[in-house]
Amino acid sequence: MAELAALIRERGPCVVLTGAGVSTESGIPDFRSPDGIWARFDPLEYGSIQAFRADPDKVWSFYAPRFSMLTEAEPNDAHLALADLERRGFVRAVVTQNIDLLHERAGSREVVEVHGSIRTSTCSGCSATYPLADVLERLRQDGAPRCTSCDAVLKPDVVFFGELLPREPIDRAFELAGEAKLILVVGSTLEVQPVAGLPLETLSAGGALAIVNRGPTALDALATLKLDGSAGKILAAVADDLARTS
Ligand code: APR
Repeated sequence: MAELAALIRERGPCVVLTGAGVSTESGIPDFRSPDGIWARFDPLEYGSIQAFRADPDKVWSFYAPRFSMLTEAEPNDAHLALADLERRGFVRAVVTQNIDLLHERAGSREVVEVHGSIRTSTCSGCSATYPLADVLERLRQDGAPRCTSCDAVLKPDVVFFGELLPREPIDRAFELAGEAKLILVVGSTLEVQPVAGLPLETLSAGGALAIVNRGPTALDALATLKLDGSAGKILAAVADDLARTS
């Protein structure tokens, strides 16, 4: 952990790339662990745009409890440490694959959501936008939430398999990665493109890669430093170290 603090001191402010593993300590399961979401739900049946178009009620039956769980979860030590490190100038921005809004709720200021979020849902008929509170209200009824004006099904503004990523956030993420002298990956297997290409962008521009993840990631071999363990414990210790020594 002292090594990671030293790397951030030397090469910071770093760009942080987070995945589902940063939120498991808030009680939210990740995707690819043995007890992760995709072990229980087939991503083709519940996570693809084709599945949503074919049977939105079925896909919303997966998202409805998920929306409640994500809304009820609280930021954990990892989210709080990253917000603290940004306030103190050690983190430039957090790029997240997560849709749970927990970085923002922890106080992070520059958060780039490359897979969308639960903040809004959009009507698939007339494109009206509905905030989270309205969607939660509609989820108390049966079936998929529907538009007040045209009765078409709402789609959560999260990226499904088979969809393009929203252009502005992904462009911003690649710009940040290209400028970073250090990219710190937290809690991601780095198996999903194009996000998994962000560390390569940093490396090819001469920056370094550090990883905090329980278990292997696709880019471990390219990392200057890999810490295998709890994101909350490791990031809290790193934030403490940087508070004491700077
Ligand atoms: N501390 C550190 N690492 C953790 C912790 C923790 N507390 N909890 C879980 N992990 C690790 C897991 O061991 C795993 O290696 O985090 C990683 C999470 O990886 P994935 O489940 O693959 O999640 P992610 O990389 O975010 O997935 C990318 O795939 O289907 C999707 O769209 C979804 O955004 C998601 C994308």
